[in-house]
Amino acid sequence: MPAALSICLLAALSANHSALVTPSSSDYNSSLAIYNLNLPIYPAAVTYPSSTEEVAAIVKCAAEGNYKVQAKSGGHSYGNYGWGGESGEIVINLANLDGYSYDDSTGYATVGAGSRLGPVTTALYNSGKRAIAHGSCPDVGIGGHATIGGVGPTSRQWGATIDHVVSATVVLANGRIATVSETENPDLFWALKGAGFSYFVVTEFVFKTEAAPVGGVSYTYAFQGLNASAQSQVFKDFQTFISNPDLSWELYIMMVGLPEVLEITGAFFGSLDDFNALGLEQSFSIPPAANVTVIPNWLDMVAIWATESETAEEPAYFYAKSLDILPDALLSNDTIDSMFEYLTTTPDDALTYELEVQLVSGAMAEIASNATAFPHRDVLYWIFAYASTNGTVSETTIDFLDGFNNVIYDAFPNETFYAYAGYVDPLLTNGPELYWADNLPRLEEIKKEWDPRDVFHNPQTVPVGEGSSGEC
Ligand SMILES: Cc1cc2nc3c(=O)[nH]c(=O)nc-3n(C[C@H](O)[C@H](O)[C@H](O)COP(=O)(O)OP(=O)(O)OC[C@H]3O[C@@H](n4cnc5c(N)ncnc54)[C@H](O)[C@@H]3O)c2cc1C
Ligand SMILES: *[C@@H]1O[C@H](CO)[C@@H](O)[C@H](O)[C@H]1NC(C)=O
Ligand SMILES: *[C@@H]1O[C@H](CO)[C@@H](O)[C@H](O)[C@H]1NC(C)=O
Ligand SMILES: *[C@@H]1O[C@H](CO)[C@@H](O)[C@H](O)[C@H]1NC(C)=O
Ligand SMILES: *[C@@H]1O[C@H](CO)[C@@H](O)[C@H](O)[C@H]1NC(C)=O
Ligand SMILES: *[C@@H]1O[C@H](CO)[C@@H](O)[C@H](O)[C@H]1NC(C)=O
Ligand SMILES: *[C@@H]1O[C@H](CO)[C@@H](O)[C@H](O)[C@H]1NC(C)=O
Ligand SMILES: *[C@@H]1O[C@H](CO)[C@@H](O)[C@H](O)[C@H]1NC(C)=O
Repeated sequence: MPAALSICLLAALSANHSALVTPSSSDYNSSLAIYNLNLPIYPAAVTYPSSTEEVAAIVKCAAEGNYKVQAKSGGHSYGNYGWGGESGEIVINLANLDGYSYDDSTGYATVGAGSRLGPVTTALYNSGKRAIAHGSCPDVGIGGHATIGGVGPTSRQWGATIDHVVSATVVLANGRIATVSETENPDLFWALKGAGFSYFVVTEFVFKTEAAPVGGVSYTYAFQGLNASAQSQVFKDFQTFISNPDLSWELYIMMVGLPEVLEITGAFFGSLDDFNALGLEQSFSIPPAANVTVIPNWLDMVAIWATESETAEEPAYFYAKSLDILPDALLSNDTIDSMFEYLTTTPDDALTYELEVQLVSGAMAEIASNATAFPHRDVLYWIFAYASTNGTVSETTIDFLDGFNNVIYDAFPNETFYAYAGYVDPLLTNGPELYWADNLPRLEEIKKEWDPRDVFHNPQTVPVGEGSSGEC
């Protein structure tokens, strides 16, 4: 790294040598705790600021030195985008920015952008039993989650994590500190809710909060050792059940599994009687092994999801894909049969492969798809396909997952299947189009206005809009 940059960064970090790690530091390699081992990345520098002002000074140094910047919060990007997503960037590791406070009079919580979901959930609950919507993995960072979407067990009641953001403190590409909200810099506030990594570093969020659920019913219906046609039957029954437009918003439901076991699992935020009245168990034509447990406390419920996601949180060599299924493009029985037949052809090097099908809808669909940068409001369910391998992921495994999505694309040759930017797929050649859909042109305009030199960059950030700009 040029001496001038290193001097600038050190000054930005108040001369705290341990807050600056560069390739010549002895702890450089050990500080690179990347999540997707398949995508090794070597940043130009990893910085550990302790305040918004230090973040601002770092961004100024980077912009002056023509370096790209990404913030790192929980480090759970599928493409290691918190580390830049490509080598040579300046990483702003927000680990020290993990403050928390709660204002009883407004019900708003102020959360440092380097916090993880687990501690945030606990702190909210200890603030008079409050909660926000978020995903189920406690190590995911609020920084990456609340700027991309954040869809989880309570999203059918409350929307996504982004829908709880009322304002944020951000550092812009020119190093200026700003507040974004409905009234201050509203275009940036709109962009924050689904595409934040392209525009700024958030250092602090203010969230509106909800009364935490008292608890509810945790359930798993397991189907062991079924052949492809029987698994297909389970999926057909599942799709029929979840496509009922009157299905209770209190139900969180997903299908996970393969190849040995398929599970329909989730939670119901209501009484056991009301859960039973949904008729979920009766909707299966093949009898499952059932585990239906009443959990009388919100944090105990959250702990169950944390336990279930322990393996997924470990770094691994993997590749994964996501796609949106809309209510007016349900999969036909033939397509479902083809999907499960296709899945019997696991590549030799895939240690685990997994399908995760998550019902969205409910409160998520009440919000207009252009109300936030995140556009996936009308989605009925998401299909995520994932494969991890012991060592570098082979072309065969990548082709296997691509081929799985192709089974579905081929069934709807005229349909575009969008993808969720929370589960980035670095191999997509048209990532921004699929992540942001019809919101992309506006995002490009906002990028041109606020970050025309593309300081905040990873391989799939919003491109700088073309055409005339007001600047000279
Ligand atoms: C095991 C696992 C489970 C998951 N479960 C869910 C789930 O249930 N629901 C769901 O919606 N998603 C889920 N995700 C996806 C997750 O929400 C996204 O990957 C998210 O972006 C990760 O945030 P992070 O802070 O941990 O990651 P990071 O790698 O630190 O950040 C991801 C991206 O966000 C940017 N970013 C981080 N902090 C900031 C900031 N303060 N300001 C601006 N940009 C920032 C980074 O620069 C990077 O581009 C899961 C991911 C994993 C790995
Ligand atoms: C870091 O790892 C790289 C590649 O594995 C190696 O070449 C380099 O010497 C290591 N650096 C340090 C400081 O250990
Ligand atoms: C699959 O299993 C079901 C019962 O579980 C059985 O009726 C069916 O014949 C099997 N199909 C094939 C192709 O083996
Ligand atoms: C049933 O589910 C509960 C809650 O997730 C769990 O604690 C319990 O161990 C499960 N029981 C069995 C037999 O798997
Ligand atoms: C698809 O399968 C379901 C469940 O097996 C069945 O009820 C339905 O009639 C089938 N649909 C068509 C169009 O064949
Ligand atoms: C969203 O689209 C509607 C028309 O479809 C338009 O009236 C509205 O202004 C748009 N909202 C935003 C925030 O762009
Ligand atoms: C993974 O690879 C390592 C060495 O490359 C080997 O020791 C280990 O047994 C492998 N694990 C599996 C599950 O194949
Ligand atoms: C796709 O669009 C083409 C051209 O508009 C049309 O001819 C074709 O019938 C459509 N296919 C389907 C499956 O709708």
